[in-house]
Amino acid sequence: MNDAFRPRILEGKVAVVAGASSGINLGIAQHLCRAGARVAILSRSAERIEVAARAVSPDPAEAIGFAADVRDYDAVSSVFSRTASRFGPIDIVVSGAAGNFHAPAAQLSPNGFRTVIEIDLIGTFNVLRASFEHLRRPGASLMSITAPGGSHPSMFQSHANSAKAGINMLTKCLAMEWGPGGVRVNAISPGPIAGTEGMARLAATPEREALLKGRLALRDYGSKRDIADVALFLCSDNSRYITGTVIDCDGGSALGDASGDALAPPALAAGKP
Ligand code: NAP
Ligand code: COA
Repeated sequence: MNDAFRPRILEGKVAVVAGASSGINLGIAQHLCRAGARVAILSRSAERIEVAARAVSPDPAEAIGFAADVRDYDAVSSVFSRTASRFGPIDIVVSGAAGNFHAPAAQLSPNGFRTVIEIDLIGTFNVLRASFEHLRRPGASLMSITAPGGSHPSMFQSHANSAKAGINMLTKCLAMEWGPGGVRVNAISPGPIAGTEGMARLAATPEREALLKGRLALRDYGSKRDIADVALFLCSDNSRYITGTVIDCDGGSALGDASGDALAPPALAAGKP
């Protein structure tokens, strides 16, 4: 469906998206704004977040950007206070700020491990916790961006996978504690998404990209729009009975290696049906 004909199902709602100067989270912020929400976005770089805010909407009455590091609770808290004073109580929170790189554990310094845990896991706690006082309750929908590595081990990702595993558990604990007050808490687990910094870092060459795609059940990368559509669903009343869930939008990543070739029955391997 052409976006011009989409219903503005988030009209009157206010959203905050953390880590939205680029990539998947910027795609989510743009999608929520197109659906009618007023959107505040944050990331570390004042310059990048201002450019991104204007890409969400050229109208500052619809989108604003704040420079804040998710590792700094007071800075994050101030973003929520300022957003609530400007736009009103907050209905939607997306916590997606993250840092990642490929690194064998034996070559990873304690500070490298800590840095990723602090951005991804502690940053997510900071964002969700700081939002709490400003949420419209009942009715608010909170979501974090996790990854398949949060529940399935993979090589050279001990730092990021440990952080995402923590996010998965945090999602469930907060869903239990905040559900009685009418706040839903979920997470989205994207598979490899085309045109993102994450994939530029983890599959930097065409050969690595082809290898990764060949292992996926759906044999292709997803798009930012695929993830934004799941986020929109989690913001809407269509998901009003869903909380404490990690939704896989991953082309089958969580199923494991679907390349199959080495284990194919001999007849199949010989090209017979
Ligand atoms: P990205 O474009 O690099 O997005 C990361 C964002 O986080 C940027 O806006 C960055 O902006 C911000 N950020 C980083 N450190 C921060 C900090 N300390 N405080 C505040 N903001 C911070 O990456 P992406 O690939 O789209 O990834 C987005 C999310 O999806 C991440 O949670 C990632 O783990 C998850 N994910 C991605 C994929 C994929 O295929 N790309 C797959 C699974 C999961 P500044 O530099 O301006 O701070
Ligand atoms: N391999 C191993 N260690 C690395 C590394 C790599 N590729 N990149 C950084 N580190 C280590 C550093 O050496 C440092 O440890 P040390 O003090 O023991 O040397 C530690 O990580 C912190 O690095 P620093 O550059 O000071 O951190 P930062 O807070 O400025 O940046 C990062 C955070 C490292 C995660 C940076 O890559 C970043 O800003 N990422 C955001 C974008 C992103 O990752 N997008 C993809 C999301 S999936």
